[in-house]
Amino acid sequence: MTVQQTQGIKPDLGLNEDATNTVVTILQRLLADEHVLYMKLRNYHWNVTGPHFRALHQLFEEQYTQLATTIDLIAERIRSYGAFALGTMQNMIEQARLEESPHNTLPARDMVANLVTDHETMVRNLRQDIDQVDDVNDDGAEDFLTGLLQTHQEMAWMLRTYLEG
Ligand SMILES: [Fe+2]
Repeated sequence: MTVQQTQGIKPDLGLNEDATNTVVTILQRLLADEHVLYMKLRNYHWNVTGPHFRALHQLFEEQYTQLATTIDLIAERIRSYGAFALGTMQNMIEQARLEESPHNTLPARDMVANLVTDHETMVRNLRQDIDQVDDVNDDGAEDFLTGLLQTHQEMAWMLRTYLEG
């Protein structure tokens, strides 16, 4: 992916251009993944059915509300490196590692299982992303991505407990 730099003043963050591109590329991909997951949570929030409707309807809303904040933080962090943030749905689909869920009529249990898989995929991908930003010595990015990993790990657990019930 090409990283689109702003025409403005380049920030002097102690990272060379390659390092900056590495980190921004990782952040753009995460921004895309979070959008896919955000949309899926909204889809399931709207369309979940069954005896656990109320609990899942609320849990999905809690998670997409939290991800909305996460999405904003990722995009604004991209800007702080002097790059532009991706901002179209097409960008998100093209860059995301997560897959969309074409179904809005899944049984509630399958919705939850699909979300657990996505959160766990995020955790595993983030481990690799963290290794990469560690390699270019971006401590700030490493800390930020570690926070994201913890968020997704906790969200996966919240959903997984439902499957164990
Ligand atoms: Fe709602």
